[in-house]
Amino acid sequence: MTDSLAPIVAQHYNKIEEKGLEERKQSRIFYMRNFNNWIKSMLIKEFCEKLKNVEGKKHVLDIGSGKGGDLLKWKKGGIDYLVCADIAALSVEQCQQRYIEMKDRHRRQRERGRCFEAEFITADCTKERLKDMYKDSDIQFNIVSCQFAFHYCFESITQARIMLRNISECLKPGGFFIGTVPDAYDIRRRLEEASDCKFGNDVYSVTFPSKEQPSLFGAKYDFHLEGVVDCPEFLVYFPALLKLAEEVDLELLYCKRFEDYYEDKSTNQEGQFLLTKMQALETYPPLLKNQKSTGSNDDYRSAQQKIKDLKEQQEEEPIHVGTLSQSEWEVFCMYCVFALVKKDKKKN
Ligand SMILES: C[S@@+](CC[C@H](N)C(=O)[O-])C[C@H]1O[C@@H](n2cnc3c(N)ncnc32)[C@H](O)[C@@H]1O
Repeated sequence: MTDSLAPIVAQHYNKIEEKGLEERKQSRIFYMRNFNNWIKSMLIKEFCEKLKNVEGKKHVLDIGSGKGGDLLKWKKGGIDYLVCADIAALSVEQCQQRYIEMKDRHRRQRERGRCFEAEFITADCTKERLKDMYKDSDIQFNIVSCQFAFHYCFESITQARIMLRNISECLKPGGFFIGTVPDAYDIRRRLEEASDCKFGNDVYSVTFPSKEQPSLFGAKYDFHLEGVVDCPEFLVYFPALLKLAEEVDLELLYCKRFEDYYEDKSTNQEGQFLLTKMQALETYPPLLKNQKSTGSNDDYRSAQQKIKDLKEQQEEEPIHVGTLSQSEWEVFCMYCVFALVKKDKKKN
């Protein structure tokens, strides 16, 4: 058995610097990151809405919470209490600082309602028991969220089991476990189509040690994403996740590829509104004459086709569409969103 890669992962995330909006806007993956954020917003909103008629305070656990990219989403969801846990100590500190600032802003600007209370834990959630670290060890969660982080526990079956116990043991019956993970099937398909052990484009790359069929756990690959990620990850074979989830009374509600979830959610008014507000799509061609698109001309073939089709239907010109560059779209489509529910044994 090899040594765990957790310290490398923690060190990697600790090193990532918080960038300002102007700097982020210059990034080649600015829109894709916003689009991912939109997916998370829609998911968090969907499950917070399910809590509306639930009695009592709404408690949430965010595993792999990072620098607190979802704090505002939880605030909008109207929750009462949030526990943030992450292996990277510096990220946890930054998350806490961000929360303090958010709460302060809420008070100063006399925003409506109240801002949730929170606590912050630095822990390897694949090795340590979170229940022993909560301020109140009897806390019960309505939602456990694990965004872009669950795959780290598939380093070994033991780690996956500990992670799932952390997720389930304080989750209320009828409570939800929601998350986003790389789609192992899609990644394997891309690997099979590649001429060697590596595939990708100008914004991402995935490198496997070989093309052999990987084991269920510890199926490691190196993931590089332009300016954000450069670290080992593990394939999450979804049927294995479901089998282990069953051991801790978690049942699948759904698992959808990002592009399908986008199709579902972009048709409603709120989804549309948020797409624009969060700048989740790039306007093509750019609205301003001296503005450049983030990708190359070839990156916008589908947008160009859409404009052509629209022009055939209507005369109006010029036509602009919301899109993602092809390179960003390829990364976006590598993920799925999932939701599980904790069995309510009293009801069954
Ligand atoms: C891609 S980031 C996602 C952060 C955040 N959930 C978001 O969506 O913005 C992955 C996070 O998982 C955390 N992580 C990785 N392995 C972990 C582990 N074993 N226990 C807890 N957190 C872990 C990393 O430190 C990092 O903050």
